[in-house]
Amino acid sequence: MSQQFDFGMVGLGVMGRNFILNVTDHGFSAIGLDTDLAKANALEEEGAGKPVKGTTAKEEFIAALKKPRKIMLLVPAGGPVDAVIDSFLPLLDKGDLIIDGGNSFFADTNRRETYLSAKGIHFMGIGVSGGSHGARFGPSIMPGGDAEAYEMIKPILEAVSAKVNGDPCVAYLGAGSSGNYVKMVHNGIEYGLMQLISEAYDVLKRGVGLSNDALHELFSGWNAGRLQSFLVEITAHIFSVNDTLTDQKLVDMILDQAKQKGTGKWTSQNAMDLGIPVPTIDMAVTLRELSALKPERVAAEKIYGPAQAINEDAVTLAAAVEQALYFSFIATYAQGMAQLTDASNEYKYGLNLETVARIWRGGCIIRAAMLENFRQAYQNNPALPNLLLDADLASSLQVAQAGLRKVVAAAVSSGIPVPAMSASLAYFDAYRSARLPLNLVQAQRDFFGSHTYERTDRTGIFHTDWAE
Ligand code: 6PG
Repeated sequence: MSQQFDFGMVGLGVMGRNFILNVTDHGFSAIGLDTDLAKANALEEEGAGKPVKGTTAKEEFIAALKKPRKIMLLVPAGGPVDAVIDSFLPLLDKGDLIIDGGNSFFADTNRRETYLSAKGIHFMGIGVSGGSHGARFGPSIMPGGDAEAYEMIKPILEAVSAKVNGDPCVAYLGAGSSGNYVKMVHNGIEYGLMQLISEAYDVLKRGVGLSNDALHELFSGWNAGRLQSFLVEITAHIFSVNDTLTDQKLVDMILDQAKQKGTGKWTSQNAMDLGIPVPTIDMAVTLRELSALKPERVAAEKIYGPAQAINEDAVTLAAAVEQALYFSFIATYAQGMAQLTDASNEYKYGLNLETVARIWRGGCIIRAAMLENFRQAYQNNPALPNLLLDADLASSLQVAQAGLRKVVAAAVSSGIPVPAMSASLAYFDAYRSARLPLNLVQAQRDFFGSHTYERTDRTGIFHTDWAE
């Protein structure tokens, strides 16, 4: 019999190729399938000397896998996933496992799991984060679905994942589509943090004229402190990169219109559906949409003029921006983790938030030193409804809020948009208000629509004829 492989990968783009090479670095043999012969060949060339094979023939691919087969898909979300599954079904045996490692919409994962389990095929949706470098050298992996099937793939996933102090950044998360859901919220948080960093950049560059070199130094320094994170680290690096076509820094030559593939928007949409407030993430999605309106923005600046400089010395403002970022980062994670808590109840995922924080400490795009603080917060209180209620985090937020207020006030006065910072602050201020003015909203609803209200001093449902 020809060689039999431990693991199969479908989709040999850069993510799939790197993931499979990572698998073969850890003592497992693997075969990759792609319709593009050049990609199958590229896998064999890059994997020369390793127990790896590339093919374009699905029959050969399926026949070459040890049973029960372990097949991972890294193909574009949506139709392509269904097409691969349907084309494999006649060739598979009961007990085989298909893993979807792409950014699939969680409801699609539920549908596929039901469809495949009726045929005796295990199916898991797993989130994989860390980009192409992570796929090659250690991603964070978020598996959800069939717990029994996870045991089949656990040794491979633990071997290839990122490690923090030897602890693998992968763990079984929960039932159904929980893996894809957790990855979706990861990406929502990713959008929020990226928007917050871009606002810090705007305040310091437009507000007080910091150069790219100064920004590089500042962000590098922050990355050595409590803001230590992948996104702050790469931002520091970005400010130092020269353009090859002009004598400018590359960042200054990039068009200010951000694209999106949809996972951040899904996070906001589903949060709205479940009634969970995630305003920083909402704002990050909104700003990507606003960025697309470039010609209108140019026309509006001609009418209203540009933002004004901030009347503050750069060193003082930079210290406040550090506090603002620290505070807003925590507020963003708090929103995302609260969404996971509520969604877990709604969808019966059975998520453990300490586990989520633990596997996000390394490998993924939102990895950050503060994830260890979040892990501890959930370890201390597994039922913590919101990170803002953790005593240790609260004491550092109490101090940092002064910086966030200073930055938001200065930016608002100057006309520099800081929507994600403002939303983070508003979320905090509303969350810590024992009484909000929404009593008035209830009165208005009852006035014009007889929608009734509850009272603060007695139970029951009340209606008033307000116009009388
Ligand atoms: C990751 C990233 C990855 C991808 C984003 C980009 O965790 O490795 O989140 O999944 O880079 O989906 O998303 P946008 O194209 O929507 O910015």
